[in-house]
Amino acid sequence: MTAAATLPRPLDVASIRGDFPILSRKVHGRDLVYLDSANTSQKPTAVLDAMDRYYRQSNANIHRATHLLSEEATRAYEGARETARRFVNARSTREIVFVRGTTEAINLVASGFTWKHVKEGDEILVSGLEHHSNIVPWQILCERTGAALRVIPIDDAGDLILEEAERLISPRTRLVAVSHVSNALGTINPVREIIRLAHAQGVPVLVDGAQAAPHLAIDVQDLDADFYAFSGHKMCGPTGIGVLYGKEAWLEKLPPYQGGGDMIASVTFEKTTYNALPYRFEAGTANIAGGVGLAAAMDYLLGVGLDRIAAHEHELLVYGTERLQAISGVRLVGTARQKAGVLSFLLGDVHPHDIGTVLDQEGIAIRTGQHCAQPVMDRYGIGATARASFALYNTREDIDALVRGLAKVQELFS
Ligand code: ALA
Repeated sequence: MTAAATLPRPLDVASIRGDFPILSRKVHGRDLVYLDSANTSQKPTAVLDAMDRYYRQSNANIHRATHLLSEEATRAYEGARETARRFVNARSTREIVFVRGTTEAINLVASGFTWKHVKEGDEILVSGLEHHSNIVPWQILCERTGAALRVIPIDDAGDLILEEAERLISPRTRLVAVSHVSNALGTINPVREIIRLAHAQGVPVLVDGAQAAPHLAIDVQDLDADFYAFSGHKMCGPTGIGVLYGKEAWLEKLPPYQGGGDMIASVTFEKTTYNALPYRFEAGTANIAGGVGLAAAMDYLLGVGLDRIAAHEHELLVYGTERLQAISGVRLVGTARQKAGVLSFLLGDVHPHDIGTVLDQEGIAIRTGQHCAQPVMDRYGIGATARASFALYNTREDIDALVRGLAKVQELFS
């Protein structure tokens, strides 16, 4: 962990919490303590209102009609694309493809590479920290093409071994796919360095930014990422909407992903020609309300300030790490040099599901299990962890509640 060099103005967390109506509900008669934001984040009123307003006032299909409602809906959706462009600092909205989420974004790229850029003997390089959604699409690609999947290993702390990455990137490598932040351990990967190493060999890089977008300022031009994928629901937006950023030159090289309305320029039974970017990858009626909600979420996060959010969550991480390490029997899994707000841990011999169940009775929501990252668990020879994950609305009091809850777990299972 590294402390931010110059600390930005602290968040007014009480006021932020007031923006999230769900945080004032009770769970099993207790105040909700929500520590499962890496799974999905809660939504501020700004997002709920934007979606409600859209459905109440402007609901219509986009790009297809000449009436006022359709114009308003189109403006809202394309406005959302511009907000997403700004959020990741892409050069152009042609580089912003709306998808269902990170998983679909990765599948879109994997599918395109399957048909165009990979053959038997080629290699795809992922890391040992990946979520299943950044493993399985590449395995499917390998099954279909005869390519091989290679893996950058991680060390005991949960850091990628960069020298191994350098060794594994070779003339056979067709693409490197790596997470910006690990959902299971919280490791912030040195993606800029990995991209530099890959580009030195002419290899493109896809970054899975699902766990980074809610917590860190993203600049795809500065990173020089070829593809960057993220999901709305983890960043205070709705489910079912996400973004694939792709460099225009790369998106131009990929074949269409799905066929249907909106992705075409013209259709005859003899030949179909495809629409321009990014519409070529957006077949069928879009998740318009989702786009509206996602834009509201991005505006919300930008309004608070990603640097302030990162500093706040880092402070919580330092505090939470100290508090958990002080509990006898706690083993933190994942102690990388740079981490986002994730505490994955074990408590003696108590099964993580039992920890989760007892905490739930106290109103405390955490995630337990493999976190859709079974290879990470295998790396540590464990079946599961308990995981507390933070967002901008969490407080030290939430961590204190977690610590009290864990004392209860110990009492019950001693
Ligand atoms: N939803 C998954 C998690 O909890 C990705 O980390």
